[in-house]
Amino acid sequence: MAKHILILPGDGIGPEIIAEARKILEVLIAQGLVLSFSEGLIGGAAYEATGTPLPDATLADAKQADAVLLGAVGGPVWESLPMHLRPEKGLLGLRAELGLFANLRPAVLAPQLAAASTLKPEVVAGLDIMIVRELTGGIYFGQPRGIRIRDDGQREGVNTLVYSEHEIERIVRTACDVALQRDGRLCSVDKANVLECTELWREVATRVVREEYPEITLSHLYVDNAAMQLVKAPKQFDVIVTSNLFGDILSDCAAMLTGSIGMLGSASLNATGQGMYEPIHGSAPDIAGRGIANPLATLLSVAMMLRYSLAEPQVAQQIEAAVAAVLDAGLRTPDIMSPGMTEVSCQTMGDAVAQHLHGST
Ligand code: IPM
Ligand code: MG
Repeated sequence: MAKHILILPGDGIGPEIIAEARKILEVLIAQGLVLSFSEGLIGGAAYEATGTPLPDATLADAKQADAVLLGAVGGPVWESLPMHLRPEKGLLGLRAELGLFANLRPAVLAPQLAAASTLKPEVVAGLDIMIVRELTGGIYFGQPRGIRIRDDGQREGVNTLVYSEHEIERIVRTACDVALQRDGRLCSVDKANVLECTELWREVATRVVREEYPEITLSHLYVDNAAMQLVKAPKQFDVIVTSNLFGDILSDCAAMLTGSIGMLGSASLNATGQGMYEPIHGSAPDIAGRGIANPLATLLSVAMMLRYSLAEPQVAQQIEAAVAAVLDAGLRTPDIMSPGMTEVSCQTMGDAVAQHLHGST
């Protein structure tokens, strides 16, 4: 049966980068890949059209789909809305409702872009890290939460960091499975010197690896040290596994090691292998509508989708090769521009990848 993809462009540069992804999917379909896709509303765009950032129809379509491809959500116009109506709630709701607990965020430096990093080339050349971020638990979802008024009249803000053993076990297993396909080294990041919740995290991670993955080399770092090590000597890492909030922060940091957050895709998977795929970058409202966004993170997310949810690893490789080919040809969107290269628009970049894909099969 044809696999079905739900496409959610979202806000800001979302629609522009998703248009380039659709172009690629159409080339693949024309070449015989059996899949179909439809579009839905999410985030601020959904709020404007329906009054909620995650309409029931979107959720129902997402549950039916084999994979979801998302652009980006959010923007300044919605920042003053109550929390439950903000675009980000649409994304968080989708993650929770689909049970997408495992977020894979690769930080890979394309050799053509070694000069784009703010770090010295020798520190980042050949960088290839995978951050496995827990995505449906921790302080993002813990109860109680909110802003409340104390007996003395003072307001206080509350969020709760909570992880069950089960939640820790399953994300550590996913990270181990990922590490087995790579160098077999896993670094678990916590704050076990201060937070009991992550003391449990460390204990469970240690047990899972000892009992189930003896071939994995496990190390532990406190999150502050991990942040420092990431900018000091990032190539020491193979796979990092960490909680929702720490993963959010460390993955932005790791992304910048590669020069541009505009180059990195991500996969969010549930227990059945269904996944949501999105670029790591946000909706970039400051450049939206100007045609200068970098679509490559979205195209590389499509490659991840083909690999992890659609069982088409060869097609995934073709997309990755086409992206490498346009970089080799010197095409650069402004975020990755360097002297001697050719600056191109979002659309021209998408066209070039589509053309290479066309020629390569
Ligand atoms: C991310 C983003 C989201 C997060 C926001 C948009 C809710 O920063 O995917 O990293 O915090 O998870
Ligand atoms: Mg983030």
